[in-house]
Amino acid sequence: MTHRSDPTSSSEGTGNSRRDILTMAGLAGSALAVGAPLSAAAQRAPAARPASAASVTTSRGAIGKTRKLGALEVSSIGLGCMVGSAYFLPFPGRQRMISVIRDAVERGVTFFDTAEVYGPFTNEEVVGEALAPFRNKVAIATKFGFAFRDGKETGRNSRPDHIKQAVEGSLRRLKVDAIDLLYQHRVDPDVPIEDVAGAVKDLIQAGKVKHYGLSEPGPNTLRRAHAELPVSAVQNEYSLLERSPEGQILSICEELGIGFVPWGPLARGFLTGRFGEGTRFASDDWRSTIPRFFPDNMKGNMALFAVVDAWAKRKGITPAQFSLAWLMAQKPWIVPIPGTTDPWHLAENLGAAAVTFSTADLQQIAADLARAPVIGPRVLDPSTSANGVEARQR
Ligand SMILES: NC(=O)c1ccc[n+]([C@@H]2O[C@H](COP(=O)([O-])OP(=O)(O)OC[C@H]3O[C@@H](n4cnc5c(N)ncnc54)[C@H](OP(=O)(O)O)[C@@H]3O)[C@@H](O)[C@H]2O)c1
Repeated sequence: MTHRSDPTSSSEGTGNSRRDILTMAGLAGSALAVGAPLSAAAQRAPAARPASAASVTTSRGAIGKTRKLGALEVSSIGLGCMVGSAYFLPFPGRQRMISVIRDAVERGVTFFDTAEVYGPFTNEEVVGEALAPFRNKVAIATKFGFAFRDGKETGRNSRPDHIKQAVEGSLRRLKVDAIDLLYQHRVDPDVPIEDVAGAVKDLIQAGKVKHYGLSEPGPNTLRRAHAELPVSAVQNEYSLLERSPEGQILSICEELGIGFVPWGPLARGFLTGRFGEGTRFASDDWRSTIPRFFPDNMKGNMALFAVVDAWAKRKGITPAQFSLAWLMAQKPWIVPIPGTTDPWHLAENLGAAAVTFSTADLQQIAADLARAPVIGPRVLDPSTSANGVEARQR
């Protein structure tokens, strides 16, 4: 597989084969994953797991709390479904992912994230099948913005006619009459954002879309989009390892009343403590392209994880819970969407909804983080990044 230089850019990776999948965590040489779909037995939720460090977990329906993304009200933590069929290996198998998504519904999650490009197409199918019994009880977010040929993504395309065509496909695969939240996945520099917003407005008027969002927009493009059609949510990478939204985007969201959805809120697993200095990703795993996970940088970034781990211990929670709760503590209109294929991780992550911090905690955390700077760039080649792109003027 050829990796793009910017894994968070247009493709977010490409179709993965399942060969050569060996992830070594902690000590080099300890194989954690092999490259085949999980067996039927493994796809069932494990019957028991030894008590983990999670002191806060959610029982059935227990998440309870909601947050607003613009006018859209959703559970305070959502579920990122991408990991069910794209980019991180090994894939869990369709039935396992369906079971995790339904488990999330039972635990009170009402916000599910997918995209046309995940698979491509297959992740929307899995989400559509999983959520079919819960139609009208949950909100599904999906995304458009790419062109495809022979089942492969070929670049960005947000022309209005293409958007409308893409939405018909998403509606069919998701088995819904309307998409609750429709994001432009990446800004298409060749299409004025007013034309994109106009197409989404037509879709809203036709009853096919309910709310409008953008992912990784340039600041001016976000303002122009919102002037044309109210934006409910921005979805950008945001975590303790990637804090760029604190530059401009979060303040624009606050000013305009736009909600914010952090993707990669666990830094693709890094913030859970499952990686270590010896971690190596298979070449087919998207994370092998992330500079912050290259061996030397990973070693340096363990200082940041040490801060996370120390605070988690102090609060009596897990590193994943601390990382999600910290994001939620930044603004009341932030709704993280951690991705998981594991029912135990799901329960653990949702426990973050019950975690609170005092003002003194947050100040001390900020001071501790300042002593553990992030090592390594976000992407290999920022010049090809599709993050923060501005759409051309009309
Ligand atoms: N808009 C965009 O451009 C964009 C880009 C990327 C992703 N997204 C969306 O954002 C969602 C979340 O981002 P992400 O999936 O990339 O990264 P993430 O949520 O930061 O991390 C997911 C990874 O963390 C692991 N994990 C989750 N909870 C865990 C726990 N409690 N303990 C140990 N490991 C845990 C998962 O493995 P297990 O399966 O083993 O739990 C998975 O490998 C995606 O699913 C997708 O819907 C959007």
